[in-house]
Amino acid sequence: MVLWSGRFSAPSDDDLKKLNDSLSFDRRMYRQDIAGSRAYADAICASGVLTPAERDAIVSGLDQVQSEMDAGTFAFQPSDEDIHTAVERRLTEIIGDIGGKLHTGRSRNDQVATDLRLWTAEALAQLAAAVHALQHAIVATSEGHIDTLMPGYTHVQPAQPVTAAHWLMSYFWMFARDQERLTQITGRVRWSPLGAGALAGNPFGIDRHALARALNLGTPMTNSIDAVSDRDYVAETLFAVSLLATHLSRLSEDLIWFSNPALGFITLDDRYSTGSSMMPQKRNPDPMELARGKAGRLIGNLTGFLATLKGLPTGYNKDLQEDKEALFDSLDNMLQILPVISAVVRTLKINPARMAEALDEEMLATDLADYLVRKGMPFRQAHHCAGTAVRVAGEKGVRLSALAVGDYQAITPLFGDDVHQVLSFSRSIANRSAFGGTAPSAVQEQIALARAVLAQSE
Ligand code: ARG
Repeated sequence: MVLWSGRFSAPSDDDLKKLNDSLSFDRRMYRQDIAGSRAYADAICASGVLTPAERDAIVSGLDQVQSEMDAGTFAFQPSDEDIHTAVERRLTEIIGDIGGKLHTGRSRNDQVATDLRLWTAEALAQLAAAVHALQHAIVATSEGHIDTLMPGYTHVQPAQPVTAAHWLMSYFWMFARDQERLTQITGRVRWSPLGAGALAGNPFGIDRHALARALNLGTPMTNSIDAVSDRDYVAETLFAVSLLATHLSRLSEDLIWFSNPALGFITLDDRYSTGSSMMPQKRNPDPMELARGKAGRLIGNLTGFLATLKGLPTGYNKDLQEDKEALFDSLDNMLQILPVISAVVRTLKINPARMAEALDEEMLATDLADYLVRKGMPFRQAHHCAGTAVRVAGEKGVRLSALAVGDYQAITPLFGDDVHQVLSFSRSIANRSAFGGTAPSAVQEQIALARAVLAQSE
């Protein structure tokens, strides 16, 4: 049965059918499609299109369709163009011609828009839970390393000492913003297009507000043309997933180079490292590389779909069928990556000794400048003097702490006998105690705030 065969004298060409059909990928929305149909049967019954007995027959027929789908016994037919067609075809087989009343005033345009919104809202909730688990893992691993010192980097060059917890927690806040974005998007996903018809609205006086409530969607969309053609929420979801993937990719990149034996800052657990088929010694960070690699693909889904949207004229256009594969692919991949990365972070071994070995006294040059500032020198000048100390030490081939007080005083008499006290990594860190800094006291505060953020969404 083709739903729209009346005005045609010949069936579709086989190749066109293959191109046109979306069943292979939209069948996963069957629960949402059936939920939409149940609610719609109620709505058109309330407005007098169906008798209560007809509505009951439709609802029980839909129940049977759902159990066949759930059990995997539903027999799809070659004529089923998409999930909407398949459900209606089977419903009519089960309950007879009354099944054909369900589509009164409805179009697949408002139907698919509703199904996909319901599906996306559920997927966003799943995603939020997976991000939440990652945030927990970050906090748990960070908590053990509030006093662990490591080099902090800018431009991949040693910059200033930081604590390992501070480094790892920097990712917590990226994921916290991702989390916030998912919540905000969910608010915009949960609008109800149902009852918009193909584009012009419903002629049977249905109560679209009641229909929206029945679907647990917030409010009916205010304009029926917008209702059937809006896919902003798909683009926004693709963006949110892409940015999340970008953050994961950055974290992965850190874990990859920190796990390189030349640095040895971290060791990935055996369960989350992979070997080489040829080189017996290898421990490869494949999960991190896959996360980094997949970010490219997910960004592609976003840009591809935006390109699909940009030229569309008013109303529904079949181009919009492209929304689903992009969305499903991005969410499937993200939901595959997240639990693995969470486990990597949870089981991560941080090696404080290797981190300490990588600290270089030159990373305290800023502290030397700050010392002079405390003695009254303007920072610009202090920067120059500290830079001179680094150069002199370099010329003598010694560390900053091996320069004599006299060497320092030759640069500026403001350097006092206490100058060597500055050259302490733990002191440098403890000094940065202002809110958001790397001092253990500030990191404690940061972690407490992170825990509060997590508790809010529990
Ligand atoms: N399979 C279609 C989609 O995914 C359903 C809507 C079809 N509407 C239409 N007018 N052909 O968008």
